[in-house]
Amino acid sequence: MDNPGKFYITTPIYYVNARPHIGHTYTTVVCDAVARRQRMMGFDTWFLTGTDEHGQKIERSAVAAGCSPKEFADRVSGEFRQLWDRMKLTYDDFIRTTEPRHVQGVQALFTRLKEHGYIYKGSYSGQYCVYDELFVDVTEPGAPCPECGRTTETIQEENYFFKLSAMEEPLLKLYTEYPDFIRPEARRNEVISFVRGGLRDLSVSRTTFTWGIPVPGDEKHVIYVWLDALANYITAIGYGSGDPKDTAKLARYWPADVHMIGKEIVRFHCVYWPAFLLAADLPLPKSIIAHGWLLFEESKMSKSRGNIVRSETILDTLGADTLRYFLLREIVFGSDGSFSFDALVQRFNADLANGLGNLSSRTLSMITRYFDGEIPYPSLGARTAADDAVAELANQTIADFHVQFEQFQFSRALETAWGLVAAVNKYIVENEPWAVAEKEDQDSRARLATILHTSAEALRIVTALAHPVIPESTARIWEQMGLGDISRLDLRNLEWGQLPLHTKLGKVEAVFPRADKSTIERMQQMEQERAGQTTFTEPSVELKPTESVAAPVAAMQAPAAAPANKTITIDDFAKVELRVAQVKVAEKVKGADKLLRLEVDLGTETRQIVAGIAKAYDPEKLIGRKVVIVANLAPRKLRGLESQGMIVAASLGDEGVPVLAGFLEDVPVGARLK
Ligand code: MSP
Repeated sequence: MDNPGKFYITTPIYYVNARPHIGHTYTTVVCDAVARRQRMMGFDTWFLTGTDEHGQKIERSAVAAGCSPKEFADRVSGEFRQLWDRMKLTYDDFIRTTEPRHVQGVQALFTRLKEHGYIYKGSYSGQYCVYDELFVDVTEPGAPCPECGRTTETIQEENYFFKLSAMEEPLLKLYTEYPDFIRPEARRNEVISFVRGGLRDLSVSRTTFTWGIPVPGDEKHVIYVWLDALANYITAIGYGSGDPKDTAKLARYWPADVHMIGKEIVRFHCVYWPAFLLAADLPLPKSIIAHGWLLFEESKMSKSRGNIVRSETILDTLGADTLRYFLLREIVFGSDGSFSFDALVQRFNADLANGLGNLSSRTLSMITRYFDGEIPYPSLGARTAADDAVAELANQTIADFHVQFEQFQFSRALETAWGLVAAVNKYIVENEPWAVAEKEDQDSRARLATILHTSAEALRIVTALAHPVIPESTARIWEQMGLGDISRLDLRNLEWGQLPLHTKLGKVEAVFPRADKSTIERMQQMEQERAGQTTFTEPSVELKPTESVAAPVAAMQAPAAAPANKTITIDDFAKVELRVAQVKVAEKVKGADKLLRLEVDLGTETRQIVAGIAKAYDPEKLIGRKVVIVANLAPRKLRGLESQGMIVAASLGDEGVPVLAGFLEDVPVGARLK
């Protein structure tokens, strides 16, 4: 068989300001399935993932968690890696942007861009969105970020600039000459119109914080986090290392075949990244594939919205394969798709338990019962048109599956494969092998052998095709079929009629036991418990507001809150994380006349807070107002809503009328009160 060559695939490297959720799992699982299949197609495959650990956002999150950025990054990066290992994802390398190999590579790239005349020093004055780590085109101080709506911060710094403006024409030429460079088409069009709109030079260094890679020779600057992050795709395979082994690896695998990303980071990958590479005179990746978002309760699943689902909940209940199958089958790749526990269980029951599971267990247990666990030899004389139709459909399924999978149409490819599962389950029902088995004449015996051989051969084909998507369960079915280690299978050879004769089955047992309503309840409960856990062990704070706990307003009556003879130390006070936040959303809570539901921007994230201030404040008047919140209070539920912090207010009179704390001077969102 020809050697098809190499295949290099990458995920985005994930920010360590949030723990992994199934949105991150989605991209990584898609890449894992593609990488597994490419290996089975004979490619020398390299699959890279990792974590993005520098930048202002991470620095601030670390400060908020009360630890150093490195400690913070170590912890969250470790969680990503542990999860991928628990899911047995087959990444070949995991890069962290704090590793020396990366730091060295990024500095080498920066130097090369400078030597090529693409980097110069200038001064930047404008707005920056810390959440997106993006310089934005808005002029008003404090104006919202056009991408995410969060408040931007004014930056006035002497910076290094990258001559992005010089790349307009080369980029447009690239998009025209290589239409597959950006997929799908809709994203490509967005990028083209963005570039046609004109490109301004990009600030690629910062001086107001230190958590980053120093600019070589001018260490008070750190390199812009996106230049740092994007370079991971080459530093991980040896760029910037003097070691000949690394140089050979870079020559072997670069350019990447696929950068898989979510649609919100298209601009960085399709404009900035190729511009940096063109300027450095390095080859460009072959394609950038952008997928849609996983939605939960109608909006993008993300930590700041507080609507995340953790992969662990599904791994603990239905297992990794169920999650993998759901993500690839249920979501049309490229579009947004919704996640719900109901849909997950429905898919599991319909396609895995009743579909493939049923096909496998009925076929293999009948072979055990009627043929002593040995796959029977089909008899030519006993063949019918129904058997031929299954064989024909199986060969067609193989051909279609390959094409669809290679076009990243995972959902369609699985639909195709499960079309064969449904057809064979129907074939079994219609051909009633259990009834044929009751007759003992030779013809019936030959017919029974043919039916079960046909079913087993179709099962083998579906199992092989599905292996990259549901590796664990297909490996088990393969073993039960007596076929050994599935990972050695060469998918290029797969066709009808290869089932080895007289194969002795292994121990037959159910691969997908059915799930029911209680599974959904269990998952929901686990999620609630997980949501109640904070990411890090924060100091526990005992605040005794004069308001009841149900009205989470901290009264600023310090003398009353602390008994007169009992003082606290400065360390005690430091445990309370008071921060400035800005109200983005405010609305009444149905059925609770004292409560308002607020969404406040903390600079690094948005929090939902339920506050007992409805009698004193009109919700509309609160929007845009800067307030003080206790940011490290354990979340709790009020009227079914999670309150992720507490608003600070003075409490007046016997009624405890709240008056929100505020400032006379303008203060940035996220600032800490000390
Ligand atoms: N660190 C940057 C990427 C740098 S790559 C050089 C970053 N990190 S991130 O942690 O925010 O991860 C973004 C990626 O996670 C998305 O592009 C997407 O692949 C995945 N997802 C995160 N949330 C997601 C959903 N709700 N739905 C689908 N994918 C999601 O951006």
